[in-house]
Amino acid sequence: MQPETMKYSRIAGTGGYLPEHVVTNHELAARVDTSHEWIVERTGIHQRHIAAEGEMTSDLAAAAGRRAIEAAGIEASQIDLIVVATTTPDLVFPSTACLVQAKLGLENHCPAFDVQAVCSGFIYALATADNFIRAGQARCALVIGAETMSRITDWNDRGNCILWGDGAGAVVLRASSQPGVIATHLHADGRYRDLLHVEGGVSHGMQSPSAVRMQGSAVFRFAVNTLDGIVDETLEANHLQKSDIAWLVPHQANIRIIQATARKLGMSMDRVVLTVDRHANTSAASVPLALDTAVRDGRIRPGELILMEAFGGGFTWGSALVRWMTEE
Ligand code: UT7
Repeated sequence: MQPETMKYSRIAGTGGYLPEHVVTNHELAARVDTSHEWIVERTGIHQRHIAAEGEMTSDLAAAAGRRAIEAAGIEASQIDLIVVATTTPDLVFPSTACLVQAKLGLENHCPAFDVQAVCSGFIYALATADNFIRAGQARCALVIGAETMSRITDWNDRGNCILWGDGAGAVVLRASSQPGVIATHLHADGRYRDLLHVEGGVSHGMQSPSAVRMQGSAVFRFAVNTLDGIVDETLEANHLQKSDIAWLVPHQANIRIIQATARKLGMSMDRVVLTVDRHANTSAASVPLALDTAVRDGRIRPGELILMEAFGGGFTWGSALVRWMTEE
């Protein structure tokens, strides 16, 4: 049982991992009818990292997880819950979280499972782990967003192949007497599968190959409106003013979507953590990778309030309001 006072969670360390191989817009322009200038103007993306052959989502996840464990200054054996958000698992089963548990050499029988909420996956996973800690069922959770989106990308579809990248981001979430994770807000609306989906799957008989199909401009409009709504909901529910938020750590899908959310918050872009230019859209990995970037370069300071948000296939969307606390 958790001591009565340790009823909240806080992020104790972050980690990220990007595969070595970088693909530039110019390289994509040699394959499909596009240009570096078009991609930068319409998305803000300059390059993406792509996993090597044989490099699996669980490899990326374990690498990011190790870095988060190191940053948190804990022993891996203290981890008592693993939640991995991914849309691109290594296998149908076991879950990627179980594979990560084995790769980290954990023999403590802690629960490990995946959550699937596409680009909102990390926010869903963070909310899940936070609730485990609030309920006293975990004290030290490893929460990872990891993807090999390149494996479900149709490299001949210029309408969306330009967007995706591979990577993983992780946090260690520890029980705390003060709320680091102040609130999470999650939503889904399952009526829009035709706008963003990947065909195939177990109960369809696993037809392959399958790849992301997206009606880009419709998804774009939906994302902007929905994220406007989640900003209002998060501020209202937590009795906050826009000016209370020090940093926006958004899902990195498209710089124009991010700029719209920043405008909604009345926030200048220098308070927004941007990685979309270098990482592209890494789906569930994008928010924790962005968080890790800004924590490691020292931008985010103890005591500051961070708003994380994401929108993705499902549709799913959500936010996490976090006070940055380096120590209990
Ligand atoms: O991760 C969460 C879910 N995903 C998102 O949030 C992504 C949301 N959508 C987007 O980011 C954007 O819709 C895209 C970047 C995918 C596309 O940008 P857009 O400004 O919405 O373009 P569009 O689809 O409205 O297409 C405009 C034009 C079309 O040509 P015509 O019909 O006007 O002649 C497209 O054929 O741009 C053309 N186009 C391209 N041209 C050069 C589409 N893709 C490309 C391309 N290069 N790669």
